[in-house]
Amino acid sequence: MHVMAINGSPREERSATFHILDPLLEGMRAAGATTELVHLGHLQIKHCLGCFLCWVKTPGECVQKDDMSAVLERFIKADILIFGTPLYHYNVSGLMKNFIDRTLPIHEPWLVGDSEHPAWSRHPDRYPRNRSMLLVSPCGFPEFDYFVPLVQYFQYYAQKLGWKYLGEILRPAGEILTEEQYQQMFAWYYDLLRQAGKQLISQGQMTPEIQAGLRQDLIPGGTEAFREAANQHWMAAMARFGVSGKPPAQTE
Ligand SMILES: Cc1cc2nc3c(=O)[nH]c(=O)nc-3n(C[C@H](O)[C@H](O)[C@H](O)COP(=O)(O)O)c2cc1C
Repeated sequence: MHVMAINGSPREERSATFHILDPLLEGMRAAGATTELVHLGHLQIKHCLGCFLCWVKTPGECVQKDDMSAVLERFIKADILIFGTPLYHYNVSGLMKNFIDRTLPIHEPWLVGDSEHPAWSRHPDRYPRNRSMLLVSPCGFPEFDYFVPLVQYFQYYAQKLGWKYLGEILRPAGEILTEEQYQQMFAWYYDLLRQAGKQLISQGQMTPEIQAGLRQDLIPGGTEAFREAANQHWMAAMARFGVSGKPPAQTE
């Protein structure tokens, strides 16, 4: 079982996305999987030109010569693809969207009926294989609600590709995972991620208990306390540059 995780955060190893992916992959390796982690921010991947030459002139190959061809070669051989992306404006990061666009060569141009839903058209896979997909995403706000469009996108994406959707690991208020001084405090969360990784490999899914555990708040105190702490953080960050500012008074 080979797992490829793609980190779509431009912050690479400093990112909250990485702090979730790293223990998750560790758990997967402990259960016998081989894993690799691709930081899109380390690579040169140009945006898709929309020319379709990867379908008609050089089938399966993009005309642009950059790091994508090597990644795609490994991507098609993975059994589980983990899409790790920070939430950017309720969606994937630009790096991740760019990457997804550049996977166009793995599809064939033909329009055929979907095997499960013949009324739906789809492009056949150029390299058919049983693949599964997992979504991993941190965001800044403390509410899960912000992830609704992202989850729907990946569920839909998996369904249209004919891949199994393994679920999602979402981390609201995830920014704090990047703070080195709090790492010890989150040991319980990283342990749950390792367990989730093991389960995904050995059982093909995460138990409801693990999923519920991973949805617990990282910091106790609720939304009000979180807003207060976040606003203090931004004021202090601005002050370091000699910029003053404060949150507007709350209006109902
Ligand atoms: C351009 C941009 C857009 C963002 N949009 C959202 C958003 O819509 N909702 C949200 O809760 N957080 C948003 N955030 C905050 C990030 O999701 C958050 O800081 C996250 O922890 C970053 O993860 P990373 O360290 O893996 O990059 C945004 C951040 C940036 C830079």
